[in-house]
Amino acid sequence: MLLEKIKNLKKSALSDLEKVFDEKSFRDFELKYFARKTGLLTKILRGLSGLSIEEKKKIGKFSNEIKREIEELMKKKKKEIEYLSLKKKLKKEKIDLTLPGQEKEIGSLHPLSTVQREIEDIFLQMGFQILTGPEMESEYYNFEALNIPSYHPARDMQDTFYMEEEGTVLRTHTSPVQIRAMQDYGAPLKAIVPGRVFRYEATDASHDNTFYQIEGLMIDKEINLANLKAIMQEVLNRIFKKEVKLRFRPGYFPFVEPGLELDLGCLICEGKGCSVCKQSGWVEFMGAGMIHPNVLKAGKINPKKWQGFAFGFGLTRLVMMKYGINDIRLLSGGNLNFLKQFN
Ligand code: DAH
Repeated sequence: MLLEKIKNLKKSALSDLEKVFDEKSFRDFELKYFARKTGLLTKILRGLSGLSIEEKKKIGKFSNEIKREIEELMKKKKKEIEYLSLKKKLKKEKIDLTLPGQEKEIGSLHPLSTVQREIEDIFLQMGFQILTGPEMESEYYNFEALNIPSYHPARDMQDTFYMEEEGTVLRTHTSPVQIRAMQDYGAPLKAIVPGRVFRYEATDASHDNTFYQIEGLMIDKEINLANLKAIMQEVLNRIFKKEVKLRFRPGYFPFVEPGLELDLGCLICEGKGCSVCKQSGWVEFMGAGMIHPNVLKAGKINPKKWQGFAFGFGLTRLVMMKYGINDIRLLSGGNLNFLKQFN
């Protein structure tokens, strides 16, 4: 009877084990047959204690064999389950090497930086040094040292941001660096100064409160306006990649004498007259002149021994002309769609 029961138990255990397919069903199986108190097989093995020694031996051996057999099969099953779950996991983690990658966007130079570097390269090749100065400047360097005393109406030519700190402004032009350069290096001197300048102005398509200029100066014994014209001709030809037309016209700036304005033959209509040049064929490009003796003195350079020219132009305006940009605000707007066109 008991033997029969054990055989049946083995049968049902084997068929139950067949149906085990994952960790949970494995654990259920283990509990059903091997749980300490309630396991079906455990109970039978425990029940053996009441038998005679003879029977105990016989049935004990038999049921132990069955137990081992089942345990053996369970081990196999366990490996099988582990393999299956690993396979499932790997399938989920699979990498599809044929999928397209994620493209990283690479930034590029702002058109202002590109053109500034081009200009710096040209001037460096001509032996100029590149200098910078502070954006928060003293009234002395921004005005007085440049021959613009406080009572002078020329102060009103440039609308100025005055800082809370007495005597301090946001520089309205790069010209104050002329004085700093003279004081630092003396004569002879050849330098350009690219930099950001500020004007207290309402913004529209052609005005911004912040923009870029490039200042330049060349001081030696016999420097004159013909040198300035030759240099600007070369620089502008190279920037615009063609022969540009230039003309000098008298202009007033307190820090030069004589003072002049340099006009560029209109690049849009080639001088025929259009809306950009207001039908004149020329566009104002920069201010320049021979450095005023008072300015040389402020720079601790003897005007009886040395002379030179200075100029200043709007880098921002040059970039607009070069690329045909019709709104200055685009250059500081940070719009990537706009900026990507210059890659
Ligand atoms: N600083 C002037 C401005 O911002 C431009 C300028 C004119 C610079 C004549 C010069 C110069 O060096 O000689 O409008």
